[in-house]
Amino acid sequence: MRVLVTGGAGYVGSHAAKQLTKSGHQVVILDNLAEGHRPAAGSTPFVSASLLDRERVVAAMSEHKIEAVMHFAAFAYVGVSVKDPAIYYQNNIVGSLALLDAMRGAGIDRIVFSSSCATYGIPERVPITEDHPQHPISPYGFTKLVIEHALADYSHAYGMGYAALRYFNASGAAADGTIGEDHDPETHLIPLLLQVALGQRESVDVFGTDYPTPDGTCIRDYIHVDDLATAHVAALEKLKPGMALKLNLGTGHGASVEEVVTLCREVTGHAIPVRKTARREGDPPALVADPSAAKRELGWQARYSIREIVESAWKWHKAHPKGYND
Ligand code: UFG
Repeated sequence: MRVLVTGGAGYVGSHAAKQLTKSGHQVVILDNLAEGHRPAAGSTPFVSASLLDRERVVAAMSEHKIEAVMHFAAFAYVGVSVKDPAIYYQNNIVGSLALLDAMRGAGIDRIVFSSSCATYGIPERVPITEDHPQHPISPYGFTKLVIEHALADYSHAYGMGYAALRYFNASGAAADGTIGEDHDPETHLIPLLLQVALGQRESVDVFGTDYPTPDGTCIRDYIHVDDLATAHVAALEKLKPGMALKLNLGTGHGASVEEVVTLCREVTGHAIPVRKTARREGDPPALVADPSAAKRELGWQARYSIREIVESAWKWHKAHPKGYND
């Protein structure tokens, strides 16, 4: 298929674009480079545009005879979304609605949407199944939920086929070491720990050691970005007009902050000092996916372990200590 990948120069989008190409699809990346990195798009055809620039988006769709869209372009800092919700509402909601509008105009009826476990808020139970109530506690999570609702309504009314893929903790880097995680500022646990191992930071704060978990630190379901990418390709290939898929993408296994710290020390051979500090506002004690629906619907399951996640991330960070050269 001819697929437009919005946010294809970003972290998850670039890995999905690479996987799509590998699977024989024709990819065009659309990215405004607000968060993305031009080198992450490699030699894939690239359109530099904002989703709000309707003329350019429609032109890209018609010029490249696009048949389906994978939509990653969004802001994804939970903390920033609390302090400055306006840019999240504008970019993640208004931008996505503009994209859907352009798709309707161009007669494109299939979209794979990058959603988040942040739509669940504080879970009532783990592992989390897709029918778990969605009560996001951050503007970021709410923007993702709004678009899930829009997709459901567009599917019902206009026959749009969609997959809303709710990621748990995306991490790791491409096995060939060519693309990886490069956020500025970095806020995610694994890259922060690896930056200490590279000598770029003194230590990492462990946010809270008094959670109701076995070692007192938060539990997350870390999923390899290449596993996410594979699930996107499987969802795209399954989609038909009017179809609605809402799927968790996780491994089904949780790792605590303390376990991740230990693993990063083992993989890097560096002591990686940490400081135990207070809880970070808005962090649920445990977020773990029940990924069985994705297995049932897509025949997909995560292949990479958390050790392989850390090893691939370490390979990327060692080779690109300053991130992308852009
Ligand atoms: N953590 C620390 N110290 C740090 C950074 C993180 O202890 O310096 C802890 C956090 O408290 C959390 C775990 O490490 O328990 C993972 O934190 P990340 O910031 O790496 O990831 P989050 O779980 O906060 O965020 C992820 C996704 C978001 C999504 C969110 C839903 O990256 O996109 O889950 O809660 F919205």
